[in-house]
Order: sequence, then C-alpha cells, then structure tokens
Amino acid sequence: MGTMVSVLLSLLLLLGPAVPQQTQAGSYRLSFLYTGVSRPTDSLPSFQATAHLNDQVFFHYDSKSRKAIPLDPWSQMEGIEDWEKESELQQARESIFMETLQDIMDYYKDREGSHTFQGRFGCELLNNKSSGAFWKYAYDGQNFIEFNREIPGWVPQDPAALNTKRKWEAEEVYVQRAKAYLEEECPAMLRRYLQYGKAFLDRQDPPSMSITRTPGEDTIKCWASDFYPQDIDLHWIQGGNTVEAEVRGDLLPSGNGTYLSWVSLTVSPWRTRNTVFCRIVHSSLDQPLTGLDKRQ
Ligand SMILES: *[C@@H]1O[C@H](CO)[C@@H](O)[C@H](O)[C@H]1NC(C)=O
Ligand SMILES: *[C@@H]1O[C@H](CO)[C@@H](O)[C@H](O)[C@H]1NC(C)=O
Repeated sequence: MGTMVSVLLSLLLLLGPAVPQQTQAGSYRLSFLYTGVSRPTDSLPSFQATAHLNDQVFFHYDSKSRKAIPLDPWSQMEGIEDWEKESELQQARESIFMETLQDIMDYYKDREGSHTFQGRFGCELLNNKSSGAFWKYAYDGQNFIEFNREIPGWVPQDPAALNTKRKWEAEEVYVQRAKAYLEEECPAMLRRYLQYGKAFLDRQDPPSMSITRTPGEDTIKCWASDFYPQDIDLHWIQGGNTVEAEVRGDLLPSGNGTYLSWVSLTVSPWRTRNTVFCRIVHSSLDQPLTGLDKRQ
C-alpha cells in the first residue's frame, strides 16, 4: 500500500487529500478515489482506484492487476464483499473513466499530452441515517463536473464537461441511477460493511511516546506512534506551561491504519533551566501520557 498511496499523494489533488479526513463520532463514510493518467509508467498504472471506510483503506484496484484487493483486516472478513464481482465492477468503471479522459483530451485536441483525471465519490451515515453524499471529478487538478442531487443532474465546471454532461445524461435513467447510487446503494453497502467492520473503525489504539534528540542539534522531538483514531493533542510543557508548537509533523498513516505524529522543540539554554515534558492527550487514554526529555 505504501507505494500506491505515495503515488496518489504525488498527484495534484484538488478534490481533497488522498487520505480522507476523520469523521465525527457515530458517523461513517464509504469513499472512492479514482485516478487516471494519459501517460502511465511502470510505477504509475493508467488507472487506480482506492476505497476507504472512514480514513482506513478498504481496497485497491488498478489497471495492471485488474483486481479489487482488500487490505487487512478487511481481507480476513469472510463475506464482507464478493471480490470477484467487485473486480468486475471496477473494470467496468475503469473503461467509462478512461473513456471520459480520452473525450476531454479530444475536446482539447491534445491526445498526446500528459493529463490527469480524478474522481471522488461516496456517502456517509450518521446514526445509521444517510447524512451526505458526493460525486465529483477534476481534470488536471481543476474542478471538472459534479453531481447535484437536488436538480438532480451533472453540473459542468469546465467547457469540455458540457459534452460529458450530455453523454452521462443521454437517458433520463442514467441520472436516476446516479442519484439512487448515492442515496440508496452506497449507504446500503456501507451498512453492510459496518456489520463486519464497525468494531475496527471504532477501535481505540493508544499512542506510544518516544522522545528523540539528534546528536549535534539543539532540537528534541516527541513522537506519538501507532495510535487511532487520528485526533491527538501532542505538546511540550515547560515550567508548567504549554509551549507553542514550533514544528509539528504530519499525521502519517503507518501502513496498518494507525497514525504517527511528532512535535519538536528547540532547547535553548534558558529552557534547560526548567523541566521540559512532552504530553499526549488522546481519546484512548484515561490519563494524558507524559514523558521527560532524558537529557535533563
Ligand atoms: C439501519 O437502517 C437500516 C435501513 O434504514 C435498517 O434496516 C437497519 O436495521 C438499521 N440498523 C441499525 C443497527 O439500526
Ligand atoms: C502498526 O505498525 C507499526 C510500525 O510498522 C507497529 O509498530 C505497530 O505495532 C502496528 N500496530 C498495529 C495495531 O498493528
């Protein structure tokens, strides 16, 4: 999964971050990110799809494997999905998606260029009720077309998207199908996945703390690792006061669905007179974790 995610992260992502943001309590999201490129390479297939349940990767599909491959722990949940059927569905979606990319490039008379097309769609449940849905596309990092459930219909955001709209609305039933997918099928799938995976999404993994110091440098780093969910409060305390974070590391998914974060502090001489602690507050902990820079 590491390389796949880094490839996605390296692309322009106007549609939002590759790793979906955390959902509020009692809220669950099923989302799909599609990426198509006109000039694939050995490490970048022409088409990639990633499905997430909340912020956790559910499965990957790409034009090389042509298989929907679930990640742990989903791969071990017997019956959560028919992966053969899911692969066929993704193959069908891949052809429509890549055809649309070709249509856009034809419109701009640039069949040889290097272009990116992305789609993001999904739905949310709050207390088991459908509470949101979205379906949008971007071409070369710019909004391209978006589904509006009120109209209902596709709203073009790019001159070339008028053609796409015409194609995707050629029959009235297409629009009804898209609306039904977002409002009925997607929430129903999400409900089914939750029967298997709710406990995993609701889990509380406590962070472990470590404090590191690079020899020869006057900064110390406090690390919180292997925690879930993503929200965490990590800070230095000096002489009883919270020190404003100077540099804070990104929340990095560790590859097994947990997160990693750090905050650094420059230890100037005046600071060494006081005791410096690192403190971590997280929903999995009854008491905050505290740790002392060992140098002191
Ligand atoms: C959630 O809603 C669906 C359909 O509205 C219903 O069939 C199901 O029993 C509900 N599940 C729970 C856990 O309330
Ligand atoms: C996740 O991965 C990290 C590092 O790869 C490991 O230390 C940690 O124990 C793993 N956590 C779980 C819950 O598997």
